[in-house]
Amino acid sequence: MVDIEVYSHQEDYMKFQNLRPDYIKAITVSLDLAKKYVADKEEVILADFCCGTGSNSKEFASLLNGLRKVILVDINGGFLEIAKKSGIKSKDLILQESDILEASFLKECNIVLSIFAYHHVPDEKKQLYINKIKECLKDKGILVLTEIYFNNKNNCMEYYKKLFESIPSDKTIPGLKKFLQQTAESSDFEFKVSKDYADKQFEDNGFTLLHEEKIWSNDDNSDEKEGTFVQIYRL
Ligand SMILES: C[S@@+](CC[C@H](N)C(=O)[O-])C[C@H]1O[C@@H](n2cnc3c(N)ncnc32)[C@H](O)[C@@H]1O
Repeated sequence: MVDIEVYSHQEDYMKFQNLRPDYIKAITVSLDLAKKYVADKEEVILADFCCGTGSNSKEFASLLNGLRKVILVDINGGFLEIAKKSGIKSKDLILQESDILEASFLKECNIVLSIFAYHHVPDEKKQLYINKIKECLKDKGILVLTEIYFNNKNNCMEYYKKLFESIPSDKTIPGLKKFLQQTAESSDFEFKVSKDYADKQFEDNGFTLLHEEKIWSNDDNSDEKEGTFVQIYRL
């Protein structure tokens, strides 16, 4: 069991995430940009890395009126059970319950969703994570990299505190504060890096940045390179 309890109570996961202004906006922006940058809408083959409940694939498939193939990978079988029953519009649906670093792929995908996923891989294995993206993404394929970046742990703690305070008190639900606190403090499931670190790693691996948006927070006090970002890369 990891040090963030909600990952053992999968049915609560989306309830918590859907109260977060950073998460809600990040998903909307990610999927709108994914739609914009994918060329051949009829033959889309998508891999969703660390897919959770598969809700992002489900929404993206609906936006495109169905996909050719969706490959969902998550280490947590409880999430994949939810995904399997969720009605993702795809001719072919592949579910892999696996550590993402051990998943098998063919080089067939037009698009990879890496949405709040890269930071779950310890830093010394992040290169292997990128190798997996390159293993499944076709040349000129699109990577949607949606991530949270911090320069240090203290700024990470501040972010989650501010995030909780930004949610109206009549909207909060039991367990939300604990979930955000555990996420901020996690040392065995969260390995967030600075934006410079990630930018360099993807650039060194041959990815070209096509578009970037800062999602949260956007107040004057926040460092311009810290917080939640959506980045669109082409391989
Ligand atoms: C923050 S959630 C994001 C889920 C989904 N992408 C979303 O946007 O809601 C992180 C997910 O990564 C999965 N995960 C963490 N480490 C993993 C690993 N090494 N291999 C595969 N999945 C992993 C967790 O089980 C969880 O579903």
